[in-house]
Amino acid sequence: MDGYKQLDFLQVTEAAALASSRWVGKGKRDEADQAACEAMRTKLNAMDMCATIVIGEGERDEAPMLYIGETLGRGDSPSIQIAVDPLEGTNLCANGTPNAISVLAAAVEGEGFLMHAPDCYMEKLVVGPECVGVVDITLPARVNVRLIAKALGKDVDECIIGILERPRHELLINELREAGCRVHLVPDGDLSVAIAALDPDSGVDGLMGIGGAPEGVITAAAVLCSGGEMQARMKFKDDNERARAQTMIDGDVDRVFHTRDLARGNVMFTATGITSGDLLKGVRYKRGYAATESIVMRSNGIIRRIETIHKDVVNGG
Ligand code: FBP
Repeated sequence: MDGYKQLDFLQVTEAAALASSRWVGKGKRDEADQAACEAMRTKLNAMDMCATIVIGEGERDEAPMLYIGETLGRGDSPSIQIAVDPLEGTNLCANGTPNAISVLAAAVEGEGFLMHAPDCYMEKLVVGPECVGVVDITLPARVNVRLIAKALGKDVDECIIGILERPRHELLINELREAGCRVHLVPDGDLSVAIAALDPDSGVDGLMGIGGAPEGVITAAAVLCSGGEMQARMKFKDDNERARAQTMIDGDVDRVFHTRDLARGNVMFTATGITSGDLLKGVRYKRGYAATESIVMRSNGIIRRIETIHKDVVNGG
């Protein structure tokens, strides 16, 4: 993935973020999502490549655009696998609350890999580079948080673990709190919090709990690029979900998946903030321009934070 393509992909998430930012706080999640999808699709289609969506808005019969299997781009090569979430945190955007982002991961076919994950839940454990090799998702959360604290050289009560605020996490939250850990509850957007956990300066030390599996694969791309660690287990609602996963995934679907099972090789990741959050500032409109903040990472370890001024998108000014 050369530098030129990385900047092209950056413009893809920027365009989606700018488009959906018009809907921030307006209570209209579908309109916000559609604006992000359209902007993202238009930008991807203008790129000189042949991209296939491996993670997108859903299956072909349920999503009009950016559906799994859709091919985009105006070239025959390179062949690129794309995983997108044009608007991660549709409620966050609609409610004007923190952590809505636009996000994309890409892998050159034959050089990199992004798992085509089924649309089920996934239990996730994400930690930053300093905690690689110390955690184990099969251990109780209270043990993992002690291991995280030790690796970071701090007390458990100085650790902050991000978790989606869901009834299914009640036991997990209680267990962590009883261990003395501080819990950072978010109403949506575990992808944003997971990526924050990869940044030693974010204040978030890890992500635990169950969220979407597609978001999990995109998270894994960021984990791979930043040198952190992710462990995951698929969570199926019923036998149909398990059977579908068995047709999509090689090997035992109940095993622990590590970062490289989900994303490996030549991979890049880009995210642009829509509403300000743990990781990125949101889109800010000023007199005569809009500003976006993005993060662009590559599996060679280069991480860029990019602030862009967009003079072409403001109506007033
Ligand atoms: P959307 O952007 O599709 O609304 O997803 C937001 C999200 O909170 C993800 O970050 C998370 O992985 C998933 O939904 C959790 O799903 P659920 O709301 O069913 O618990």
